[in-house]
Amino acid sequence: MTKVFVTRCVPEESLRALKTVAEVEVWPEEEMPVPREVLLERAKTADGLLTMISDQVDEELLSAANHLKVVANMAVGFDNIDVETASAKGIVVCNTPDVLTDTTADLTFILLMATARRILEAADFVKHDKWKNWAPMLLAGSDIHHKTLGIFGMGRIGAAVAKRASGFDMKVLYHNRSRNQNIEDTLGAEYVPFEELLSRSDFVVCLAPLTKETKGIFHEGAFQSMKRSAFFINASRGGLVVEEDLERALLNKEIAGAGLDVFEEEPISNKHPLLTHPNVVALPHIGSASVETRLHMVSLASQNIVDVLNGDKPKTILNPEIWRTES
Ligand code: GLV
Ligand code: GLV
Repeated sequence: MTKVFVTRCVPEESLRALKTVAEVEVWPEEEMPVPREVLLERAKTADGLLTMISDQVDEELLSAANHLKVVANMAVGFDNIDVETASAKGIVVCNTPDVLTDTTADLTFILLMATARRILEAADFVKHDKWKNWAPMLLAGSDIHHKTLGIFGMGRIGAAVAKRASGFDMKVLYHNRSRNQNIEDTLGAEYVPFEELLSRSDFVVCLAPLTKETKGIFHEGAFQSMKRSAFFINASRGGLVVEEDLERALLNKEIAGAGLDVFEEEPISNKHPLLTHPNVVALPHIGSASVETRLHMVSLASQNIVDVLNGDKPKTILNPEIWRTES
């Protein structure tokens, strides 16, 4: 019998198609990740795995997974998966791009705006009965409109953030591995070197994937290159940031604040020094978290497994070079 292991409790209806082609086992917890030893054990016999970003699909797991044909991650990011080793073993790896682009761009912009306009501080101010009077400079934040937005990582989500920024009359700069001519032509975005992105932007927004090249790229020197009035926003992966350096930059007032949806270690401890700064807005990795989008993501991941098990090429394959039509 063909077996699929789903590493987290997901809505029943999103697995309907999958259940017609395989025996599906679902890890019953919604918030607790499957323990490593259980995942390793299930991987040994599974034909397919539907995984979350908190599951490490590494060499140890893959080398013991002798029946595995497909790993479908319920995320656009796939830094939790050793794609090279999977490819070497002929295992198809899929992610969930496109379906989450606008939802994640919305959240990125919310985070930027909430940080600049001190929204959480202001809401707490009311709730904690501190609001006694209107005052000229009470909770005055920074403007967003007509400011310069610097996007690091101009992929689909970066482009959707740039589109939102154009509605706020922002100047858009970007840095990326490759130029995006379309975004330059349609939104007038300007490609700049990384150093220039840092020094010219009022908002530096990190949307690049975590890779060997981007790990720790936002370190002490990067924050020192930013304007003292600038904000750092991260909605991709915490690993791009040296958090200790970010914390020091905030302490030394080298930057004006930070909006963070992602962290080096998730969940971040509520004792973490970053969270002591009133000008830090911290969210629990909810970039793609709308009900509609999360359902789309799990359905796409599930369909990708169905496709591979049926011998069809899945819609969003990360290692298409291993796909053979005769398989
Ligand atoms: C979430 O972070 C994702 O990569 O989809
Ligand atoms: C990932 O960041 C993407 O471009 O969708």
